[in-house]
Amino acid sequence: MNAIVGQPVGDIPRLEEIRQSTRSAHQSVDNMVMAMAPFDNRANYARFLGLQYIFHARMKPLYDAKDLNATIPGLAKRSRFDAVCRDMDDLETEHPKDRSRLAVPQVGAERIGWLYVCEGSSLGAAFLLKAAANIGLNDGFGARHLAGHADGRGKHWREFVEQLNGLTLDDDEEAAVRKGAVDGFAFFRNLVSSSQPA
Ligand code: HEM
Repeated sequence: MNAIVGQPVGDIPRLEEIRQSTRSAHQSVDNMVMAMAPFDNRANYARFLGLQYIFHARMKPLYDAKDLNATIPGLAKRSRFDAVCRDMDDLETEHPKDRSRLAVPQVGAERIGWLYVCEGSSLGAAFLLKAAANIGLNDGFGARHLAGHADGRGKHWREFVEQLNGLTLDDDEEAAVRKGAVDGFAFFRNLVSSSQPA
């Protein structure tokens, strides 16, 4: 994997391909999260935040991976795990136990697909941040992890997309990235369903 920023991949950019192959997966995660009514009250939000905590904790080693930081410069700084922890501190909620049985890959190109899922979730977060205002939360208290980047949410995302589209991958790696994205959404879906109150 060599980073050649800005190089188009095939006929359609890699990002578009991943987006198309995960469209329905995203829709179902979106529906499941909204069904939790996370912004109806703080107890529901705390449950959602617990899922975010597990997801971002499990993603952290990918953000910190040396090889990935060499091909995606600045990756480590993109992790929102610390912001999730600060939100939990704000709300004085306990860190939930990670009971997920699904593994997050620690090597290979699949990790890039997982990173797409995690980074992309910062886009939808703009809508979630607005909704969080209903329960008195904002980017300085309780909903820090939903805030846009200081450089601008869109700009920060576009930089990642450029890096993603610019990676030189062989066919197997290309397929692995798509699999990683599908698995990343499946992981989150599994988190939501396994967190349903009895
Ligand atoms: C109720 C919860 C959610 C809502 C309402 C939501 C909504 C959205 C919206 C509106 C966008 C497009 C934003 C734009 O183009 O400016 C988006 C993008 C995205 N969201 Fe979500 N989202 C939710 C949850 C999630 C979760 C939990 C994940 C990951 C685990 C996720 C992953 C993504 C990804 C990867 C993208 C980027 C798609 C792309 O442009 O390629 N979303 N979301």
